[in-house]
Amino acid sequence: MKFDNVLDLHHDRTFFELSNFIEGCRVYLKLEGFNFTGSIKLKTAYSMIEGLEQRGIIQPGRNRIIESSSGNLGIALSLVCKEKGYAFSCVVDPNAPPYCLKLIKCYGGEIIKVTEQDENGGYLQTRIRRIQEIVKKDPATVWANQYANKDNALAHYKKTGREIHEEFPNLDYLFVGTGSTGTLVGCSRYFKEHSPGTKVIAVDPEGSITFGSKPAQRLIPGLGASRIPEIASRDNVADVLTVAEEDTIRMCRSILVDYSLFVGPSTATVLHGVKSYREKLTAGATLVVVSPDLGDKYIDTVYNPEWVEQHYRGLQE
Ligand SMILES: Cc1ncc(COP(=O)(O)O)c(C=O)c1O
Repeated sequence: MKFDNVLDLHHDRTFFELSNFIEGCRVYLKLEGFNFTGSIKLKTAYSMIEGLEQRGIIQPGRNRIIESSSGNLGIALSLVCKEKGYAFSCVVDPNAPPYCLKLIKCYGGEIIKVTEQDENGGYLQTRIRRIQEIVKKDPATVWANQYANKDNALAHYKKTGREIHEEFPNLDYLFVGTGSTGTLVGCSRYFKEHSPGTKVIAVDPEGSITFGSKPAQRLIPGLGASRIPEIASRDNVADVLTVAEEDTIRMCRSILVDYSLFVGPSTATVLHGVKSYREKLTAGATLVVVSPDLGDKYIDTVYNPEWVEQHYRGLQE
């Protein structure tokens, strides 16, 4: 493939088989970490900005885009905004990896950091309140709002879901982690329409309230929410699994040791979900797991034994 626009640098055919991950089943990762900006969020960012332009809400040179992000969406939006001619401000919290913040700045984005936890032990509500204050004061600033923006899920309906279905027309199970739930909602709608026999399983971290778990503090960015996203839906979702952060960290390590794959923690969360579901899988089933990014951004946290010891004492013994 040849590209002449950085925004088209998106990989649609990168599948990796995790041999013997589940006995008697075939398990494939759909690796989204090879998209330019390093994550699945390039699709979301592009789709949301195009949608705002098509609805006449924003114009290059006139508007500033603002968004709440744990990193990946912020990086993707900073590139899309730079290319299209918008200023960009990213509202982040103390869990955002420093690497992500530096990259957002490289692309010309502004970082606004909140430090106060919300009533559910996360930072999402605090970040959103800050955005609402800024937007109220400055009408030229537009909130992309991945949690309520239908173009988020539409990106995964048009791209991620279709790409998986084209490669696996008779897929038995699709496992998807949930943050804003855009990937889940878009893919599950696509499969309902094009392959209703495919079971779509959502995987959320413990402490996220999206699917009714008890709220709790979480340290690993990417998945989960401390406020139910407006676009979230259980329609077309066969099951919801929850995974503890400790299991995510153990799975990161085990995938690195067993397959030499350096995946991000949200991929490991979903893979732990798959393992915990193995008794329920049909024998001989084919599974696809959406892998949103690679491990590089987490080298100082999830992949750093000192950080792990500090936050999850005794986990590595
Ligand atoms: C690393 C990573 N994993 C998973 C997700 C969740 O995807 P979604 O927001 O579509 O639910 C995100 C989104 O921010 C992410 O950055």
